[in-house]
Amino acid sequence: MNNKEAIAKILAKQIELKENEILALLEAPSNPELGDIAFPCFKLSSILKKNPIQIAKELESKIKLTKKLEKITATGPYLNFFLEKSNLATEVVKKILKEKEKYGNSTEGKGKTIVIDLSSPNIAKPFGIGHLRSTIIGNSISNIASSLGYKTIKINYLGDWGTQFGKMIVGYQKIGNDKELNKDPIKYMLKLYIEGNKEEYKNEARAWFKKLEDGDVEAIRLWKKFRELSLKDFERIYKILGIKFDCISGESLYNKKMDETIKNLKTKKLLEESEGAWIVNLEKFNLGVCLIQKTDGATLYATRDITTAIDRYNKYKFHKMIYEVGQEQKLHFQQFFKVLELMGYKYSKDLIHVYHGLYLDADGKRFATRKGKTIFMEDILNETINLIKKTIEEKNPNLKSKNEIARKVAVASIIYGDLKNQRTNDLVFDLERFIEFDGNTGPYLEYSYARSSSILRKTKKKIPTNIKSNLKLNESEVALIKKLNDFPEVIKKSYDHLYPNLIANYTYELCQMFNEFYHQTKVLDSENEIFLLALVESFRIVCKKSLYLLGIETVEEM
Ligand code: ARG
Repeated sequence: MNNKEAIAKILAKQIELKENEILALLEAPSNPELGDIAFPCFKLSSILKKNPIQIAKELESKIKLTKKLEKITATGPYLNFFLEKSNLATEVVKKILKEKEKYGNSTEGKGKTIVIDLSSPNIAKPFGIGHLRSTIIGNSISNIASSLGYKTIKINYLGDWGTQFGKMIVGYQKIGNDKELNKDPIKYMLKLYIEGNKEEYKNEARAWFKKLEDGDVEAIRLWKKFRELSLKDFERIYKILGIKFDCISGESLYNKKMDETIKNLKTKKLLEESEGAWIVNLEKFNLGVCLIQKTDGATLYATRDITTAIDRYNKYKFHKMIYEVGQEQKLHFQQFFKVLELMGYKYSKDLIHVYHGLYLDADGKRFATRKGKTIFMEDILNETINLIKKTIEEKNPNLKSKNEIARKVAVASIIYGDLKNQRTNDLVFDLERFIEFDGNTGPYLEYSYARSSSILRKTKKKIPTNIKSNLKLNESEVALIKKLNDFPEVIKKSYDHLYPNLIANYTYELCQMFNEFYHQTKVLDSENEIFLLALVESFRIVCKKSLYLLGIETVEEM
C-alpha cells in the first residue's frame, strides 16, 4: 500500500466516500510547505451540504497521527497531510533497492496482449522524420506497457505494396541500372520513383502495379529487390537507434487475403459500386467514403489495413491494438475502424490510433521539405553522433569506448528531444538544442545518471538491505525522496494516457532534483553516508529505468 492509499483508507473511516473515490481526489499541494498530500473537501461539501472549510477543520481534529503521519492541518477547504520524512525515506529507499529495475512495475496487464504497429516506413522511399517519431513513441509505449505486465508485440508494418511500385518499376524500365541501384539504393530508388511518377507514364505505372498484384515474374523480381535493399537501409537506422521489433511485416503480406476481405464485405452488404470502383459509404457517420477496390481491380491501403487487423486479431487476440502513425492519417484510421465495426468485429473498439504531430523546421515549415531537399535519416543520425563525439572529446579526452558512448548520447538527444513534448503537438526539429549538455535535453539526463554512477564508483562501502535513515533530512533530500516515491504513479498515468512525455518530464525533474541534492549535500564521508549512498543508488536505479522506458540506453561515464 502506498501513502496515498493509506491516507484514503484512514479517510474512508471518517467520511461518506469510498476508498477509491477518495484516492481519485487526493492531490499534491501546490506548495510543498503546505503538506505532502492534500484532500480537497469540495465533493464532500456538496454531498453533505456543508461548508468545505468547516469539514476540513472537523476532520483535522478527528484523525489520529501515526508513525507515517507527522501532522495534519486544515488549510481553507483542504485537509493537508504531512508524512513523517525519516519513515518515508526509509520506506522508499528500501523498496527501490529491493525491487531494483522492477521498481514501478505492476501486474495490471497480466495475460493481456497489446499489439503496437509502429515505424512502418515505405519501401523504396527515404525513412521519413514522421517514421522516426512513430518509431520512438511506439517503442516507448511498448516499454511502458511491458512494465505494467502487458505482453507487447511490436510490428513494423512496411509500406511495401501499392501503386507507387508500379511507378518505381516504370522508372526502372526507363532509366534503371543495377550498378547504380546497388551503390546507393535509397537515393537511387528515389530517382526511379521521380522518373516513374511523371504524368506521361501514368497508365504504364498503373498497369505494372496490376501485374505485380497478379504475380508477374519481372514485376515481382524488381519489387523484391527494392524491398530487400530498403530493408537493409532501414536496419542500419534501427541499429543506431537500438530498436528491435517482434515482427517485420508489411502490406504485401496480405495481398493474397484481399479477395477474402472483399467477399466478406460483399456478404455483409457493405460494398457499394461507385463509378466502377467499390466503396464502403460512411457518409452517415460523417466519414466520407472508404475506397476498397479501384476500377482496375487494384486494392488500397484501407483494404490492406482491414485485412491486416482481422488477421492480427485472429493471431494475437489482442486486448488493444495501437497504431502509432501521424495525425494526417486520422481519417484513414477512423474509416477502417468504422468498417471493421460495421463488419461486426467487436474488437474494433480496441483499436487506437495514437497519433503524433509534425516535425517543423525553424521557419515553421514541414521539416522534410526544408530547402526543397530530401533529408536522409541516416545522415541526420550520423551527424548527431559526430557532434556529440566532438563535445565528449573536448570534455573527457581520455574516455574509453567513445564511439559507443557518443552513439548512446546522440540517440538520447534525439529521443528525448521528441519525447519531452506531448506527442500530439507539432515540434521543431532543433538538433543544436537537442544535443546541448545543459538544460532540458537528453545529454543532461545522461550526464546526471553518469554522475550518480561516478559517486558510487568512488566508495567501497556496502549498502545494507535494512537501510535506515535516522538523521534529519534537508530540503533537497526530502524533495528527491518524494520524487522517487512518485515514479510508479507516473508510469501508470503515462500508460493510461499513452503519453510518454509524462515519463520524460518526470525524468528531467528527477535529474534536476538529484543535481540540486548533489550540490547541497556532501555524500562521501558524511555522517549519514550509508543512507545517502543508498539514496544515490536509488536515484541511479530509477533514472536508468525511466530512461529505459523512453527507449534510451544509459552510459556510466561521458
Ligand atoms: N507506411 C505508412 C506510411 O508511411 C504507415 C503505416 C502505418 N500502419 C498502418 N497499419 N497503416 O504512411
